[in-house]
Amino acid sequence: MSAVRSFLLLYTLVVLITLSFAAESAWNGHTTPGSTKPSRFTPYYVAPGTKSYDSSSRLLHYSGNWKELYSSGYVRNTLKTTSQAGASMSFSFTGTGVEWFGSTDRWHGVARVYIDGKLIQHVDAWSSKTRRQQRLFWNFDLAPGRHTLKIVNSGEKRNKSKGTKLDVDALVVTLTPNSTSTEQIEVPQQDITVSPQSFQEDYAPSFDLAASFPSAQWVLNQQGTTGVHAMQLSIISETHAIIVDKVEHNPLTISGHPAWAALYNLKTNDVTPLAMQSNSFCAGGTFLSNGTLINVGGNPVVEDYTAAADFGDVDGLQAIRIFEPCDSDDISDCAMYENHDRIRMASPRWYNTVLRISDGSAMIVGGSQKGGWMNNATTNNPTVEYFPPKDIAGSNGLPVHLPFLVDTLNSNLFPIAFSLPDGNIFIAANNDAMIYNWQTNTERRLPSIPNGVRVTYPMTGTGVLLPLTPENNYAPEILLCGGSTVDDQKPGYEISSQDPASAQCSRMVLTDDGIAAGWQVEQMPEARTMPDAVLLPTGQILIVNGAGTGISGYGNVVDQVGASNADNPVFTPVLYDPAAPAGQRFSRDGMPTSDIPRLYHSIATLTPSGDVMIAGSNPNLDRSEVKYGTEYRVEWLSPPYMAGDRPSIVSAPKKIEFGTTAQLQIQLPASLQNANVQGKFELASDRMPLFMRLLVVLMDLGYVTHAVHANSRLVRLASSMAGDQQTLTVAAPPDGNIYPPGPGWLYVVVNGIPSTGVKVMIGDGSAPPSNEAALQK
Ligand SMILES: *[C@@H]1O[C@H](CO)[C@@H](O)[C@H](O)[C@H]1NC(C)=O
Ligand SMILES: *[C@@H]1O[C@H](CO)[C@@H](O)[C@H](O)[C@H]1NC(C)=O
Ligand SMILES: *[C@@H]1O[C@H](CO)[C@@H](O)[C@H](O)[C@H]1NC(C)=O
Ligand SMILES: *[C@@H]1O[C@H](CO)[C@@H](O)[C@H](O)[C@H]1NC(C)=O
Repeated sequence: MSAVRSFLLLYTLVVLITLSFAAESAWNGHTTPGSTKPSRFTPYYVAPGTKSYDSSSRLLHYSGNWKELYSSGYVRNTLKTTSQAGASMSFSFTGTGVEWFGSTDRWHGVARVYIDGKLIQHVDAWSSKTRRQQRLFWNFDLAPGRHTLKIVNSGEKRNKSKGTKLDVDALVVTLTPNSTSTEQIEVPQQDITVSPQSFQEDYAPSFDLAASFPSAQWVLNQQGTTGVHAMQLSIISETHAIIVDKVEHNPLTISGHPAWAALYNLKTNDVTPLAMQSNSFCAGGTFLSNGTLINVGGNPVVEDYTAAADFGDVDGLQAIRIFEPCDSDDISDCAMYENHDRIRMASPRWYNTVLRISDGSAMIVGGSQKGGWMNNATTNNPTVEYFPPKDIAGSNGLPVHLPFLVDTLNSNLFPIAFSLPDGNIFIAANNDAMIYNWQTNTERRLPSIPNGVRVTYPMTGTGVLLPLTPENNYAPEILLCGGSTVDDQKPGYEISSQDPASAQCSRMVLTDDGIAAGWQVEQMPEARTMPDAVLLPTGQILIVNGAGTGISGYGNVVDQVGASNADNPVFTPVLYDPAAPAGQRFSRDGMPTSDIPRLYHSIATLTPSGDVMIAGSNPNLDRSEVKYGTEYRVEWLSPPYMAGDRPSIVSAPKKIEFGTTAQLQIQLPASLQNANVQGKFELASDRMPLFMRLLVVLMDLGYVTHAVHANSRLVRLASSMAGDQQTLTVAAPPDGNIYPPGPGWLYVVVNGIPSTGVKVMIGDGSAPPSNEAALQK
């Protein structure tokens, strides 16, 4: 196939061009930049903003019998070792974190690690392979100030260990970061266009959360660390989220090198590294109709800074990584499968959006053919392709050209896309939007986003498909918030980290009448670039994360902060109620304020339990501890309903097919039963009366990265309750247009108080259709 061959040629050229990131020296220097000669690679790394202390430093105090060993394999050629029970090393430092590096092999035993006199962890340094410069212990969330680390040889060992060795090669301290300003940027209030009668107002009762629980509050807690930076995140089960990062010096290691993916336990905050082959830098992801998650696209091996031999990663630009369903609490068998010879995209994509469509397959939209920063005509990949591959308009599995992605250059990466209730796809990129019929390959252009606001990378805003309900025949309504009006033709040196972001939200009903009425404009209380919009089971939207000034990315603008292209983090979330009258939709009442900047590469997602997980931020090439550094801390934002007596779903089917009904067993707390006397639960299945207070919602929690919440969706299901107030009959979505077949979460919401979500497969659970001819290409 000549098309394939010319593509391969182009691809080879693309890979040969080295990446041009701004100069910086983040890598540990084991491998000469540009070299592909195999070289030892270890987790030992001194991030900007950290300081390394060698084992021979006089600030490390040893007691007991220690020996000094010399080898070029050790940090600064020296290592201290002891096999004596009770021997210890103590070290005082000023900072917010500390890491201990040493060797592991079959002769090592167990150490006790104390911080400020408190036993923190037992560290077993045994390993079947001999490895040097391993990170044996790390803690990055100490209060700023003076601390003491003490490492004691416990004299214990696992049975098969041949000794009780303990050693110290180096310690790395995270210095106390410079204080972060928590000043908020004032946004000049602009005129608010009041939207005409909105479809949302028609039917959705607007809940006053505070009124439901007068004493309940929004609560923000910091708990847990992700171990790998949380660039991409998706909830995979009631207990776990998958986190995918790029190749970098994360503290979590696997097979003796830093990990770049992990599974995070939502209940215990434990984090388990996940092996990956290819560089998943700026990939996207989606579940398919059979519950399998795919992770698509990425970056080549970053050869400027570290050779292939260094991290051992392979080129991820065309990668399709497959993560089979992993629904059990026991994740030991869950794995990312990659076979680049057999399964890969037909074209290279960095910053692509991946979306599940109405037949349960994945649509892969746009992206750039190589890593970089702002897209341009040379690097653009203005096409869509599918997994499994399709034959659309004669494409026979090859990428299908999308003129929209040419017309939206330059700021058009990570397009905002949603599958609409007629099976078409809404796509926004840069300052424009369209509706795409993927079956006929036709575009219907929509009015441009008002006031010149750009909404996709690097002028990143966020988008949300507002709740879909049977009462108004699932009329889709889209909301785009934040972004920037910075000129996307300007070079980086003419863009400032202090350029104001946009406070604008633009909302449109995607019906003929709605499109004729055009975009309705509202203003958030604060400007944000890189916001995350999280749908709550109540139908409200939490807008969180982002910056008041600058744009996405790092290392590009004239006055970077650290390496960040953005500054002035926005620390207070805001709640948007789409059902409230225009002008009264934003609320920050009782909203807590964080002190953790969440800039480029941050995420936020609803969890099955109903709170919001917030993680990430890393406007850096590699792990950094200077402002704005690599953020591993997780925060949990609990809406007031988390504190109340909540309804619960006692049992639900594992699978609900389209057009059928299903029964849920539920339990209502007494307080809610009392609040709902007078037959208010008796529903008409065709149209819910306004006083209705019990709702069943089906949600896709999305695959979150770069402020794109792919597949995020809330579909109200018609339901009726039996007189026992325990059995709900629920009508499934009619077809895959309304809810693309695949996994979802059911929540029962009573008086604005949701139950915990229950995972359910919507559709028959079969694999997405595959076109044999297209597959061969
Ligand atoms: C280690 O050996 C002891 C004594 O033989 C035995 O009781 C114990 O179960 C062993 N532990 C493990 C983890 O195998
Ligand atoms: C297009 O982008 C690439 C990658 O960032 C860059 O190397 C190249 O110089 C750009 N080309 C133009 C014409 O701006
Ligand atoms: C603190 O600020 C100074 C000057 O801006 C900078 O050189 C240093 O790296 C910063 N340190 C940290 C830990 O962020
Ligand atoms: C789901 O479908 C995809 C694409 O055909 C396939 O790769 C994957 O193995 C399937 N998963 C299961 C659990 O069958």
